[in-house]
Amino acid sequence: MKKRILSGMRPTGPLHLGHLVGALNNWIKLQEEYDCFYMVADWHALMSEYAYSDRIKDFVINCVVDWISCGLDPEKSTIFVQSHVPEHLELDMMLSCLTPLARLERNPTYKEQLREIKQRDLTTYAFLGYPVLQAADILVYKANVVPVGVDQAAHLELTREIVRRFNRIYGPIFPEPTTLLTESPKLLGTDGRKMSKSFGNFIALSDEPKVIKEKVGTMFTDPKRVYRKDKGHPHKCNICNYFKIFAPDRADGLAKSCKNADIGCTDCKKNLSDLLVETLKPIQEKRKALLSDKGEILNILKMGGEKAREAASKTMKEVRSKVGLL
Ligand code: TRP
Ligand code: SF4
Repeated sequence: MKKRILSGMRPTGPLHLGHLVGALNNWIKLQEEYDCFYMVADWHALMSEYAYSDRIKDFVINCVVDWISCGLDPEKSTIFVQSHVPEHLELDMMLSCLTPLARLERNPTYKEQLREIKQRDLTTYAFLGYPVLQAADILVYKANVVPVGVDQAAHLELTREIVRRFNRIYGPIFPEPTTLLTESPKLLGTDGRKMSKSFGNFIALSDEPKVIKEKVGTMFTDPKRVYRKDKGHPHKCNICNYFKIFAPDRADGLAKSCKNADIGCTDCKKNLSDLLVETLKPIQEKRKALLSDKGEILNILKMGGEKAREAASKTMKEVRSKVGLL
């Protein structure tokens, strides 16, 4: 029997290169070896976007289209939308009964988000419980492995604490899931900070060639390289880092030309935007084809939702009986 994986993304905006190298490429590899459940976490999106909920639908569709365009295969993996499987919420309620309030209040991600996100009022009941719903997402499928970035590690730690408590009270129901930390190369945004929707420094998988060119044009290069004849420090340059990630075989050559001032930053950026346009071309072609048949996407999500629900309802039957509800 294959081990089971669950992971998810919040549909709060377009997917970008950071999602591709930080999660999606890994998800695509994992679907060969595991029984994978990949979920669009629309309830988790609603927790911060409740006042803008009319946009979520479109982000969900675009998210799934991007996943499949990049290589997630609905024949291999179960691709579904969180809100299509109400069992998550039933388990969320049961888990929340035994999750100490103080544990949630000192969750580092929670404190950080409250501090950093000023455009949304996140001081809500649901947002405090964010990681409890995330635990329910994982446990309702009895997932063994959860591939996530390091920013989610604290949530997985809480999931394991909840599992131990639940199993101690009601008997061994859930496996303790392990965190599979995605070892992703660090892809910075166009401004040199972490690539993120909220910083507006991302290159979307759906960006047109013209937009990619403009965005690459704004990227910082080696600040010490003022004149074309100045020798560069490629390993401190974000552009060179992109080459290391998207064309590793060209990175050494580029670094050498940069150090010798054989290439100027304008040409170097032009090469990078050409590279990114080429890299995204097959993805965008597939994206366009998929978007031309929305019925087919909805059908994929319907099938995925049914498969997910089957697994989730099996777990909830067991949970209801072990907890002792009539
Ligand atoms: N919180 C995750 C994120 O922001 C998304 C998510 C929701 C998730 N439920 C999950 C990830 C369950 C892994 C497992 O990236
Ligand atoms: Fe960066 Fe390229 Fe300029 Fe070197 S030549 S500093 S790698 S942009």
